[in-house]
Amino acid sequence: MTGSRGGTEEPKVFSFDHIFDQADAQADVYAALGPPVLQMLQRGHNASVFAYGQTGSGKTYTMLGTEEAPGLVPRLCESLFDPSQFGAAWGVTLSFFEVYNEQVVDLLSAPDDAAERDRQTPWQNDLAPVRRLPVIAALRVRDHPKLGVLIEGLTKLTVTSPGEVVAALARGTALRSVAETVMNAESSRSHAVVQLSLDEGARGDRTAVLNLVDLAGSENVGRSRSNEDESRLKETRSINKSLLGLGKCITMLAQGAGASGGPLVPYRDSTLTWLLKEALGGNAHTLMVCAVDPSVDNAEQTLTTLRYADQAKRIVTRPMENIDFAKREVRELQEQIASLRTEAATAEEAAARAVRQADAHALQSKESQQQAQAAATAAKQQARAMRAEAEAAAAAAAAAVAEAASRREESMALATAARQAEGESEAEAARWRQLAAEREEGAQALLALLAHPSSTPDPSPDR
Ligand SMILES: Nc1ncnc2c1ncn2[C@@H]1O[C@H](COP(=O)(O)OP(=O)(O)OP(=O)(O)O)[C@@H](O)[C@H]1O
Ligand SMILES: [Mg+2]
Repeated sequence: MTGSRGGTEEPKVFSFDHIFDQADAQADVYAALGPPVLQMLQRGHNASVFAYGQTGSGKTYTMLGTEEAPGLVPRLCESLFDPSQFGAAWGVTLSFFEVYNEQVVDLLSAPDDAAERDRQTPWQNDLAPVRRLPVIAALRVRDHPKLGVLIEGLTKLTVTSPGEVVAALARGTALRSVAETVMNAESSRSHAVVQLSLDEGARGDRTAVLNLVDLAGSENVGRSRSNEDESRLKETRSINKSLLGLGKCITMLAQGAGASGGPLVPYRDSTLTWLLKEALGGNAHTLMVCAVDPSVDNAEQTLTTLRYADQAKRIVTRPMENIDFAKREVRELQEQIASLRTEAATAEEAAARAVRQADAHALQSKESQQQAQAAATAAKQQARAMRAEAEAAAAAAAAAVAEAASRREESMALATAARQAEGESEAEAARWRQLAAEREEGAQALLALLAHPSSTPDPSPDR
């Protein structure tokens, strides 16, 4: 592109993975971005898609779309239930929230739930949003030692069909803080996040989280005339503050911050970046959709957006396969118990055969009858002993596996804590890593004991 003043400046060149213009429809955007996102999720990798750009440039249109032209979010949600696109259906839970004036609002919670509302933090700064439905209060965000950044009381809706997702999205969208500005008749004043948590269900142990983020538009306070109304001005400042925070994190991450020993990334400076910490610099594949307005009037904003995306491209995230280890251990244990039960049943069958043989011999002679009875009794005793042994082994295996699963879980939580601490304190991160390694070692030792019961004398290594 060329600069805004007469096009005399040097052309600015950027390269991106895909470029869509006015002739491209929602289906074209989905055809390019949908399948790779689905593949990431199927591998058990977390993925995030952000829409960034100036106000009125088409972020909400691209992400959520309209009833007639659904955007990326409904199309992705729908494809999760389409066997031709996503294979066997995974378990899906949906959350839909917005960050408005630095506060988190659950877009799926019932606005008339007074008891829940009383437990939540009330709105601050006299900034009631312009809403179509009654206002609901903000939720608290906190760092959970095991689960990472957590939104307290956020609705997690289990969805089993595209229809349920569409209904939930429509409900949330109706509640979203939307207000009219000069630049966009239906401008999003909040950052909206659709979060889908997936698990493979009975077929496997993989899990994945998909964040779909429709950011509020960056805007020039003067041009959009948001300075004419006090609360609108505060709102615009708050939007710009979180976008600035996001920009700062992206710039620093692009320069290699957050790595071991590197400078800290200021995720905690805004609610948005705090919530999206993992999506920005952690365990996730991240896609950024930049919406730009082709008019010359907006050339400067367009250039800013493209620069922003260009920086974001340089960030290296570390997606890894998410495995529910506790679930895997339980499944393996169930397989082991089933095989022990089969062994016991085989032994019992052998005993019954011996009894039948004894009866046949009994017909032949008294002496051989006694011998045969003794043989049958011995076989029965042996079968009983085998069954008892199988049951005891199953019980011991269950206990060991449960203990190993709990150590694995602790190890994973500690590893998450280590990753979170990486950007903040290397010493702290190293300590978490060490603890995680110790727990993992404990789990390994127990599982080794399970595989070779006689090789490891100490069944409960120190934790
Ligand atoms: N590709 C497109 N085709 C048709 N209409 C579009 C397209 N992109 C945007 N629009 C329309 O332009 C208007 C502004 O778009 P949209 O609300 O998506 O902007 P936005 O980037 O989300 O703005 P804000 O940051 O203010 O929320 C909407 O009426 C939308 O339907
Ligand atoms: Mg919008």
